[in-house]
Amino acid sequence: MSLKVHNPRWTRVDRYLEDRLEPDPILDAAVKASSAAGLPDIAVTPSQGKFLHLLARMQAARRILEIGTLGGYSTIWLARALPADGRLVTLEFDEKHLNVARENIARAGLSPLVEHRLGPALETLPQLTGPFDFIFIDADKENAAAYFEWSVRLSRPGTAVLVDNVIRGGAVVKPRAHDTSSRGIHEMNEAIRRNPRVSATTIQTVGRKGYDGFLFALVAE
Ligand code: SAH
Ligand code: DHB
Ligand code: MG
Repeated sequence: MSLKVHNPRWTRVDRYLEDRLEPDPILDAAVKASSAAGLPDIAVTPSQGKFLHLLARMQAARRILEIGTLGGYSTIWLARALPADGRLVTLEFDEKHLNVARENIARAGLSPLVEHRLGPALETLPQLTGPFDFIFIDADKENAAAYFEWSVRLSRPGTAVLVDNVIRGGAVVKPRAHDTSSRGIHEMNEAIRRNPRVSATTIQTVGRKGYDGFLFALVAE
């Protein structure tokens, strides 16, 4: 477990910011359906989802890879950044999550753009053909270093990689022995530091999901 750090002001400000986003009945329905199906409430927030969407648009992404589908909430934000002939491949090992995601993505009219791969990501990644223009890593944090390595392998010069949940309430700085998630993120950070092909930075975030952060990386041109 990461350190859970919460603050009512961060939650209030997140609500303020969410109130200023476009109304979005399709994403609201995806949240509702995911929660009704009993999925954990750990998708990116609306502000974060829009951030992913804008990054994918900045990248003019035509091929997107997502590791960790859950109910497809981040998938919808990302797939909406694609042109009509674009493609998003999303990896998930929990069939129940994948089925909820399929419905949410269908309701969003995005099924033709989205390809699901069921199985442990370390087994499905070797089956993929790159390159991807934009990669979102958001599955188990234990394997973050391996996911990052696969991402670089599946990239082209200029590919952007975003990794969720890299601060973990600050636990990443000094992970406790049993905190395998924070240890996994730390290993990823060390691997990135040694990788001359990758230029990366990490931004700490606060909000209604607590205190966390994103790592953002570009693969060398
Ligand atoms: N990206 C989603 C949230 C993903 S939560 C969003 O923001 O909307 C993390 C997901 O990764 C969960 O659905 C979990 O089942 C999946 N996952 C965890 N370990 C995995 C693994 N080894 N391989 C594939 N998927 C995995
Ligand atoms: C967890 C996973 C996530 O991807 C996230 O954004 C928040 C929490 C979790 O496993 O607890
Ligand atoms: Mg996450």
